[in-house]
Amino acid sequence: VASAGTDQLLARVREARGDSRLAVLEGFHALKHALRFGAEIEAVLSSDPGRLERMAAELAPDLAGRFRELATVVSDEDLRHLGSHPPHTPVVALARRPPFSSAEAVAARRDAPLVFLEDPRNLGNLGAVVRVAAAADAAGVLMTGAADPWDPAALRGSAGLHFARPVGRVERLDEGERPLIALDPAGEPLDPARLPAGAAFAFGSERHGLGDELLARAAARVGIPMRPGVSSLNLATAVAAVLFAR
Ligand SMILES: C[S@@+](CC[C@H](N)C(=O)[O-])C[C@H]1O[C@@H](n2cnc3c(N)ncnc32)[C@H](O)[C@@H]1O
Repeated sequence: VASAGTDQLLARVREARGDSRLAVLEGFHALKHALRFGAEIEAVLSSDPGRLERMAAELAPDLAGRFRELATVVSDEDLRHLGSHPPHTPVVALARRPPFSSAEAVAARRDAPLVFLEDPRNLGNLGAVVRVAAAADAAGVLMTGAADPWDPAALRGSAGLHFARPVGRVERLDEGERPLIALDPAGEPLDPARLPAGAAFAFGSERHGLGDELLARAAARVGIPMRPGVSSLNLATAVAAVLFAR
């Protein structure tokens, strides 16, 4: 039976799903990366902190002891009902979203590529983009549209790597001083040697691709060569191909 304090924590995590200041982390890997990249953790709810520590011993020895130290024990049943999907590993955590400034993200780390997404729809794709951007040490991921980049489903897709680089939603994608490169299947074939350092690489939505305004503004339109008959790559796959082609 959960104590009053635990009941409050469970309620807080449920309510956090609609709170733009908070991030709900589902599963071991999301919490692992959040801890590693300095997230401010508010609560960790687990039905089996011992299992988390065994996973840490194998997969994240740098974090050994942190899971047991942070965890409040709840029942499997409570954990299952916390989100839309039961987590694969028995933990759900709550963290503060880091402060985000699009102007700072565009101006910082000028030699690193920046990822722009125009109106991405699929939260799993969006999370996979954040994950590959973090792996490739990009300067950040900025996006337009209605999808919340910090939705728990996107955080699952990124395995919590939202905390590794600035990630946020903007009204308009503004490249500032960076060269803007549009990724478009019909563009000039990708030549890694010709990609400028520190470019803002813009990718379109899954259904419609990039809009006319951004295509017209871009310094170049680049296409990743594909076998005839293939219309396009998955959004996150296209981001990976470009970031690792440089
Ligand atoms: C699933 S695709 C969108 C397909 C859309 N029907 C179109 O024609 O652009 C999502 C985004 O990934 C990028 N993309 C996918 N395949 C690509 C390719 N072969 N070359 C360049 N960009 C690609 C583009 O930015 C595209 O807008």
